Amino acid sequence: MSKITAAITAVGGYVPDYVLTNQILETMVDTNDEWITTRTGIKERRILKDKDKGTSFLAIEAAKDLLKKNNTDPSEIDMVILATATPDMPVASTGAYVATEIGAVNAFSYDLSAACSSFLFGMSVAAKYIESGSYKKVLLIGADKMSSILDYTDRTTCIIFGDGAGAALFEPNNEGLGVQDEFLRSDGGGREFLKIDAGGSLLPPSEETLKNNQHVVFQDGKTVFKFAVTKMADVSEKMLVRNNITGDDLDWLVPHQANNRIIEATARRMKLPEDKVMKNIHRYGNTTSATLPLCLFDYEKKLKKGDNLVFASFGGGFTWGAIYLKWAYNS
Ligand code: UT7
Repeated sequence: MSKITAAITAVGGYVPDYVLTNQILETMVDTNDEWITTRTGIKERRILKDKDKGTSFLAIEAAKDLLKKNNTDPSEIDMVILATATPDMPVASTGAYVATEIGAVNAFSYDLSAACSSFLFGMSVAAKYIESGSYKKVLLIGADKMSSILDYTDRTTCIIFGDGAGAALFEPNNEGLGVQDEFLRSDGGGREFLKIDAGGSLLPPSEETLKNNQHVVFQDGKTVFKFAVTKMADVSEKMLVRNNITGDDLDWLVPHQANNRIIEATARRMKLPEDKVMKNIHRYGNTTSATLPLCLFDYEKKLKKGDNLVFASFGGGFTWGAIYLKWAYNS
């Protein structure tokens, strides 16, 4: 019997309507379009303005988009993995809520949290469930309402992130398409450099933590950049070498959208021309768990069955890695 591989068979996406441009940010903090564009590549990002909507809203919209486009009956879904760094609330699984809301009544669901690598690590998990033969339809959603954890007076973080969600359906494939290889890593020594200090079990919310503004993202950008630029290139190159493929054989790099300079450095190391690199950072900024599936959502029509894709990410923790996948359908 041939080995079962786990293929992506459909994608969906959603970004909120409100567009926060660099020009608007110029009126909020001491920054300018030229700095943001040259240092990050970002021109605008989407923000979920509704006060009563959390990450689940973004995830549900992305999942519904996928289900509708692919004509999938949600009751056939076996499991829903919600990759996120911004769950609706602590303790209650946001994934469980999302699964119920989209009608995945026969699924089990949970949240997977690995900061900006949440979706990448989720791809590995989804693939393993499929490859085991235990499940036939695994829906992986990457969603983050980053605006809920940002300080819009801190120019070093608020210009970077945006809100959004993307989804991918994983199913068994008997033609050898889908996930081929992975290399995933983490290093807890990195947690001081990209974090939210308070609100977790280490430093629960208090008057003090509120006063000290410890419930928002802190990033030592320079240090994170140094690690990200090296690690993402290392693991992406490893996928090529280990699988005996060259930049010529590769059709697409699907990189985490944290900084255009990191994306370009990774592509250079892989000897890839610009037109083989998926990019939407200029439109959405860094949407954390949603960057990879939003790339698929935006580029789906250009993808062809058999295309070689390398996904790569780097995020808080630190967490990072790469996955090599063969695309399974023409749209
Ligand atoms: O997705 C998770 C992983 N995250 C990443 O991979 C992000 C990695 N880091 C980065 O992308 C970059 O480090 C940033 C985009 C965050 C910052 O870019 P940078 O080139 O590393 O800037 P910097 O922190 O070295 O700051 C350079 C200067 C500083 O001024 P001085 O000290 O040279 O006078 C900053 O105060 O730029 C200043 N600066 C700004 N100026 C205008 C910092 N933020 C801004 C801003 N507008 N928004």
